[in-house]
Amino acid sequence: MEGLPGSLCLPQISRKRVRPIQFTLVLFAVFSYTFTYLLWRNTATETLPINSEAIIAQCRALHLTPGPPDDFGSRTQSDRFAEGTKPTLIRNATIWTGLDEGNEVIHGDILIDKGLIKKLGLVDLRSYAGVEVLDAAGAWVSPGLIDLHSHIGVASLPVLNGAADTNSYHGPILPWLASLNGLNTHDDSYRLAVAGGVSTANVLPGSGNAIGGQAFVIKLRPTAERSSSAMLLEPPFSLNGTYIDPFRRPRWRQIKHACGEYPSLAYSGTRMDTQWAFRQAYSTARKLKEKQDHYCAKALSGAWKGLGDFPEDLQWEALVDVLRGRVKVHIHCLEAVDIDAMVRLTNEFKFSIAAFHHAHEAYLVPDLIKKVYGAHVPAVALFATSARFTREAYRGSEFAPRILADNGLDVVMKSDHPVLNTRHLMYEAQRAHYFGLPANLALASVTSTPAKVLGQDHRIGRITEGYDADIVVWDSHPLSLGATPRQVFIDGIAQLDKPYTSVKPKSAQHTPTTPNFDKEIADAIKYEGLPPLEPETAKADVVVFTNVSSIFVKNPTTRRVDEVFKCNAHGVVVVVEKGRIVCYGTYATCQNAVPRLDALHIDLEGGSIFPGLVSFGSSLGLTHIFREASTNDGIVFAPPNMKGPGIMDRTIVKAADETGVTSAVVAPFTGGFYAGAAVRGFVSGLSTVFSTVAAHKLADGAIIQETAALHVMLSLSWSSPSLSTQLAALRGLLLGEGEGDLARRFGDVVAGKIPLVVHAESADVIASLLALKKEVEEVKGSIIRLTLAGATEAHLLAREIGKAGVGVIVMQRPFPTTWEQKRILPGPPLAQSSAITVLVQYNVTVGIMVGDPPCEAQNTRFDMTWAELESNGIFQKATSLELVSTNLEILLGVTSRNSNTDLVATKGGFGFEGKVIAIISSRRGFVHLV
Ligand SMILES: *[C@@H]1O[C@H](CO)[C@@H](O)[C@H](O)[C@H]1NC(C)=O
Ligand SMILES: *[C@@H]1O[C@H](CO)[C@@H](O)[C@H](O)[C@H]1NC(C)=O
Ligand SMILES: *[C@@H]1O[C@H](CO)[C@@H](O)[C@H](O)[C@H]1NC(C)=O
Ligand SMILES: *[C@@H]1O[C@H](CO)[C@@H](O)[C@H](O)[C@H]1NC(C)=O
Repeated sequence: MEGLPGSLCLPQISRKRVRPIQFTLVLFAVFSYTFTYLLWRNTATETLPINSEAIIAQCRALHLTPGPPDDFGSRTQSDRFAEGTKPTLIRNATIWTGLDEGNEVIHGDILIDKGLIKKLGLVDLRSYAGVEVLDAAGAWVSPGLIDLHSHIGVASLPVLNGAADTNSYHGPILPWLASLNGLNTHDDSYRLAVAGGVSTANVLPGSGNAIGGQAFVIKLRPTAERSSSAMLLEPPFSLNGTYIDPFRRPRWRQIKHACGEYPSLAYSGTRMDTQWAFRQAYSTARKLKEKQDHYCAKALSGAWKGLGDFPEDLQWEALVDVLRGRVKVHIHCLEAVDIDAMVRLTNEFKFSIAAFHHAHEAYLVPDLIKKVYGAHVPAVALFATSARFTREAYRGSEFAPRILADNGLDVVMKSDHPVLNTRHLMYEAQRAHYFGLPANLALASVTSTPAKVLGQDHRIGRITEGYDADIVVWDSHPLSLGATPRQVFIDGIAQLDKPYTSVKPKSAQHTPTTPNFDKEIADAIKYEGLPPLEPETAKADVVVFTNVSSIFVKNPTTRRVDEVFKCNAHGVVVVVEKGRIVCYGTYATCQNAVPRLDALHIDLEGGSIFPGLVSFGSSLGLTHIFREASTNDGIVFAPPNMKGPGIMDRTIVKAADETGVTSAVVAPFTGGFYAGAAVRGFVSGLSTVFSTVAAHKLADGAIIQETAALHVMLSLSWSSPSLSTQLAALRGLLLGEGEGDLARRFGDVVAGKIPLVVHAESADVIASLLALKKEVEEVKGSIIRLTLAGATEAHLLAREIGKAGVGVIVMQRPFPTTWEQKRILPGPPLAQSSAITVLVQYNVTVGIMVGDPPCEAQNTRFDMTWAELESNGIFQKATSLELVSTNLEILLGVTSRNSNTDLVATKGGFGFEGKVIAIISSRRGFVHLV
């Protein structure tokens, strides 16, 4: 036109005077267009936008509910099938299918092919070629386990700053974030999780935000593609941001919410701030949803005029989907006050909640949970025994799963990996069962129930034809202590190359017969999680235990545990007078010891009497509520602190003694995993031995031994001096370079008067310590009693440690939390032996420690029994008792004179059949009834 190209012409034209002829033409055009338009409107057909069909489809799709396509049940191959995987027949299995509310068990074969369970029952292989056969020989088989609450991959192990992808701190409301974006494919945990039978995990963002972001369901096996996306199970179609077929039923999405302490702490706010943040966010989402609905109402009725584009906003689309009922909302919410606020929020904005996670107070308010908006009552996802570590968890109860189930709520057990090791997810279900959750629901709590909560129960969580071939073949009943997979299939692929198995006792092939906890359950509700703790003392001077199947006592000379009586069919009676065993044998033999009146008879039903257990490793006794500063002894800073423990919390200590732990050795707290980037004291101080049965520190017999051992911590960390500096300092102190009290205490160590307990993890540090010990001993001409605590990599130097006469205290179940703990010996099914077994075989004196939070002390009896089961017959019962009694005392410097002489009486066995019912205390001269 004016010699100017393209769009640059336009402004110039507009500045020109318009000539009349042109004006007329334009006027005509406008007029005729309007006329045609009106005519068209009158015939009820408005001008359709070019993409009207797409818009209509999009609008119609808003009403589709998520789930599998209608023909999903007739699929012949899994979308996750890996080409080249051979069909497998699992022959002669005892199959817990997950059907009939978890009550169905069938005996037969399972044929898996194309990533699916093809056939159950008696399978005729004639039409199949090249089938691998696994003879289960009657073994228990369950669906692959599903961890509803995991941070696997986003909080990768070992913990490194470069892999902290759980919490974003860019604001309390972040629904637009996706955990998938942080999903590391090299987490050491995947292999361990699979070895525990876990096939699927819901990977959640952290709880530092009110809305932390979207969660993703993954399968844990390695994939050929090696990508994060290849791990996903049924990801939402919107994941790629490409065209979404509006005629396909959408898939379920998952999102993380949190309320209570965590978002408050992260944003220096309060519960009030968090709830307002939620309301603001949901109000924004609701406005957008209403705009969309309004838009679609017009589009679907053909009122296209001025309609414009479909209202969308990438930041809020996920929450709009929540309001449309297409997202499973997982909310970390512990206390009644928080659950109440969420109930109101869901009713205000009309959305439902899939599950309350960590809901420690849910069992106190089951009816409140039922008031959440929508037809679906949220499930409650819990830990078995990890409670009381924050105010929010303080009223937590191990009976919560049972109480919730009694109230008709769905119960899920979860790991919160890496808070607990997802590998032992089944252990959570086992203990929920121990504390009263019926077996069918306990098994469902880690399989079919989480599958339902995730909206994936059309393909995982059960063993039934057409489901994904995620299957665990167990070496014993999955609810029995120490149950270990013999093989794990995910998508039909066997995950264990060369599984190691240990032989389990016959009794482990049945559902454990758990004790009766009816009174404890009623008390948990009555006292809102804080039942009274005053110990009850038997009034009679003489207590007769009948039907006792075994008695173990400490031998003060050898400092070993002796089995003084081997069980026979009828058991024996044990007569206790003023806290001392005065007779054991048949009733006739002990008749003289029993007064005719006034004796209390207690039937142990085949149970045992054994030495009170010792707890070490947690801050038991130094803390009331682990993460509340005002209830803690505090962290020891670099300068040496030579004080014993200051406070003792009855609640937690009592929880320990009810499970057979009657004394504890505690050293001042030096930080650790829970403390985050804690300041680690180098010399942490002197440990003290105290009784968990005493009412307070000044009670008679409360402090068993004021000074037991000197504790030192050596670790790689930016926040402490270099390891070589730490070792040099230790060398100096041992060679007499200290001053004052410090020098005196190290003098005691060099003179062999008290042990030096060094908390060290890596084999490299341990090697340096062994060399240092030798050097100092040569210079000083004495023998140092060295104990290694933590010592996750000690098995690598078992021979050298044994030769050096050094003792080791380890966790029963190793976990590669930090870099220095990376080289764990995982035990069966990944390795022939556990670290404990290997060390014992090299004649190392071994003790078992627990970690924080301190409530873990109550699992000591299970740890000991588990260690014995893993030893594959190498340990006797007495050996495993030594691991948590005499060995710990020797290694921690408890003198023979101060050795705890309390005995514990249990009803039933040592594992999940047993219950501690009495503490026999010769020191205090009475029997204390638990
Ligand atoms: C299944 O295994 C058990 C235990 O080994 C065995 O007694 C039984 O005979 C087996 N049944 C079949 C059908 O092979
Ligand atoms: C994302 O894109 C890839 C590659 O085109 C495709 O294979 C995959 O199915 C898509 N995923 C989803 C969830 O749509
Ligand atoms: C001992 O207890 C076991 C287990 O409860 C029981 O089967 C047995 O009958 C009891 N024996 C006696 C003599 O009471
Ligand atoms: C452990 O001690 C026993 C008994 O003293 C001895 O026979 C055995 O050789 C020792 N084992 C090792 C690995 O040192």
